Amino acid sequence: MEQLKAAIRDIPDFPKPGVGFKDITPLLADPATFKLAIDLFKERHAGNQIDMVVGIEARGFIFASALAYALGAGTCLVRKPGKLPHAVHQQTYELEYGTDTVEIHSDAFKPGQRILIIDDVLATGGTVAATIDLISTNFDVEIVESDFLMELGFLNGRARLGSNPIHALLTY
Ligand code: PRP
Repeated sequence: MEQLKAAIRDIPDFPKPGVGFKDITPLLADPATFKLAIDLFKERHAGNQIDMVVGIEARGFIFASALAYALGAGTCLVRKPGKLPHAVHQQTYELEYGTDTVEIHSDAFKPGQRILIIDDVLATGGTVAATIDLISTNFDVEIVESDFLMELGFLNGRARLGSNPIHALLTY
């Protein structure tokens, strides 16, 4: 895990003053650390049937596609509004100021499929909580777990997720 943490770059005052940003691009750029991250997720779910890996826009897509390939699963995109071309279901959620919305294609899953959600960061938990609501409200599927490269524990996003299983490779 130290190898992964060492590959994440701290950017002060991004995207606004006072906010510290965790930049994962060095981790992605190094074949060893990108492979390690995907292998750790893969090992966690080896032997578990996973039918679809859901990636949350945008950095979640990177992990979802590689992990889906590694697990022999399909990939599904949860996107910001207006990006998906077919009929969608949507879920709106509260931000500190205002709201945001996530969308998924209305034919994303078949009944009974086992779903893994993945994103790069669990921060306040709003995005993944909305994604879980979006999927569980509209589809008869099983959400096996929501996985993250890193959890910003000081924001206590877990509290927003109730009993939904979550796992992060790294915690700050
Ligand atoms: C970031 C991150 C998660 C989300 C986590 O995405 O990739 O999706 O925020 O925050 P939360 O737990 O407080 O909801 P961002 O909106 O920056 O989108 P991007 O990946 O497209 O840059």
